Amino acid sequence: MAENVTSLFRSTAAHSPSMAALAREGGDGGGPIDFCIPCNPYFPTPAMFDDMAGRLRDIITYYPSSADTITAELCNLLQLPPQAVAMGNGSTELITWIDHLLVRESLAIPVPTFGRWTDQPMETGKRVDMFPLQESSGFALDLAQYAEFIRARGTRVAVICNPNNPDGGFLHRHAIVQFMDAMADLDLVVIDESFLEFADAEAEPSVVQEAMLRPNVIVLRSLGKNFGLHGIRFGYLVANPALAGRVRSMLPKWNLNAFAEHVVFMLKNHGPEYAESLHQVRRDRLDMASQLAALPGLTVYPSQGNFLFVRLPVGAEGTVVRDRLLTEHRILVRECGNKIGSSSRFLRLVVRPQVDVRRLVSGLEQVLYGTRRGAAAVPELATGTSYSSGTAAVDRLVGSSNGAGIPMPAPMPPAAVSVPAPVPAAPVPTPVPAPAPMPAAAAVGPTPPGVPARGGLTAAQVRGTTGPGLAPAPATGWPNAGWPNAAGMG
Ligand SMILES: Cc1ncc(COP(=O)(O)O)c(C=O)c1O
Repeated sequence: MAENVTSLFRSTAAHSPSMAALAREGGDGGGPIDFCIPCNPYFPTPAMFDDMAGRLRDIITYYPSSADTITAELCNLLQLPPQAVAMGNGSTELITWIDHLLVRESLAIPVPTFGRWTDQPMETGKRVDMFPLQESSGFALDLAQYAEFIRARGTRVAVICNPNNPDGGFLHRHAIVQFMDAMADLDLVVIDESFLEFADAEAEPSVVQEAMLRPNVIVLRSLGKNFGLHGIRFGYLVANPALAGRVRSMLPKWNLNAFAEHVVFMLKNHGPEYAESLHQVRRDRLDMASQLAALPGLTVYPSQGNFLFVRLPVGAEGTVVRDRLLTEHRILVRECGNKIGSSSRFLRLVVRPQVDVRRLVSGLEQVLYGTRRGAAAVPELATGTSYSSGTAAVDRLVGSSNGAGIPMPAPMPPAAVSVPAPVPAAPVPTPVPAPAPMPAAAAVGPTPPGVPARGGLTAAQVRGTTGPGLAPAPATGWPNAGWPNAAGMG
C-alpha cells in the first residue's frame, strides 16, 4: 500500500485525504489508527452505534424532517431560541454561506488555522488578511495585536477560532467579549467554537449568549467533532435572529440528512455518556501531552482542543515522518506543511485513548530516533526553506507576505532545542484605536527549566498542569436530565 497511500497526501491541496480513500488504498478494508481527524473517540457509545445500525434501513429510506424541525429539537436540548440558530450540513456549509452573504470585501484570520477560513473567501475574490501566530509565543493569539492588525488593514470581518485548529490555543470568554466590543463597528465578527466542547480551562467559555445580543456577531459550532460523527455533516451557528435568519433563508430544503435527524433526536437520552466522553478526552489530552513531551526534541504546545500541535525535533521532516508512520506503523497523522502559517516541522495529533498513544509514541521513537532515542533517523528534505506547503504558490505567498501583500516580520532565529528557552513575557498592552480598548494577552508565567523549545511544554509542566491553558476547571454544568446548558453544551 505504501506508495499508493502516501501519494494521496500529495494530491490534496489544503486538507487530508478522506479516511474512506485511505482505507480503499489500504486494500484490506481497515483504516490506520487515526491521529489525523479530530473526532471524539468515546461518543457515540458502542450501544448508540448498535442502535443506529439496527435502524439503518428506516433512517435512510425516507426523507428527513425539515431543517426547522431538527433545529427546534437541537435548540430544545441546548436551551437556545430557534430563531437565533441556523443548522447546516456541517459548519463548513455555514462558513460558505457566511462568506457569500456577509463577507463583502475582506476578512481577517489568524494563521495557521482551518483551511476553509482562508480558502473560502479567497475563492470568492475577497481579500484575506492573515495574522501570523508566533511560534515564539506558543502560537497564542494576542487579541490586542490582532485588533491593531485589523485596524491597520481596514479589514471588515474578523474571525477567531477558539480553540484554534491546529494548535489548540484558547482564549477566555471575557477577552473575546472585549474583542467583540472593540469590533462593534465591523461588518461581522465570527467566533468559531467548533472545538470548544473539549476545553476545560474555563467553566463557561462560550460567547453564544453575547452573540445573540449583538448585530454583528456569529458563533459557529460544529457537531461532528464533539459527537464523533464527522460523516453525518452537521453544525450550527448562533446569532441575533436577523443575522441567523439571513443565513437560514439561503439553506436548501432538506440540507440536513436523516442521520443528522436521528442523532439530534437521540441525544436527549445520552447526556451523561456525552459528558463522560468529554471528560475522558480531556484526561487523555493531559496524558498524551505528557507522553509526547517526554520525547527528546519534540515540542508540545498547550491545547484546549482534542488535538495536540507538536514541533518535530530538529532534522526531522514532517512529510517523511507522516509517510513512515503510515506505511510502517499504520498510524495516520496530520502533517501541517500545507497549512498556511505552519510548516512541515509541525504535526497535529488527535487526542486518542492511551492504548493508541502507546503505539504512536513507539512509532515516533522508531521513526525519529531509530531503535534508540536521541539519534535522529529521519532526514530533513533539502527544500532550501523551512516552509513547505506542497504548493509552490502558497510557499511564495507565505514566505514573502502575510497573504495581504504585507511583508512578514523578520524570521525568528532557530530554536535551540536542547537549551532551555524562556517563554517571552506577555506583550505590553497596546491601545486599540476604536471604539473600545482591548485587553492585553493573558500573562504567561515564568517557564520552568527544561522547556524543549519556545512556547512548548515540558513533561513536568504538562503533569503539573500549571502551564497556560491547562489549568483544571470545574466540570461542565449539567442541568435538566443531565444535558449541558444553553451556552452550547457546556
Ligand atoms: C475551526 C474549524 N471550524 C469548522 C470546521 C468544519 O467542521 P465541520 O465538519 O462541521 O464542517 C473545522 C474542521 O476541521 C474546523 O477546524
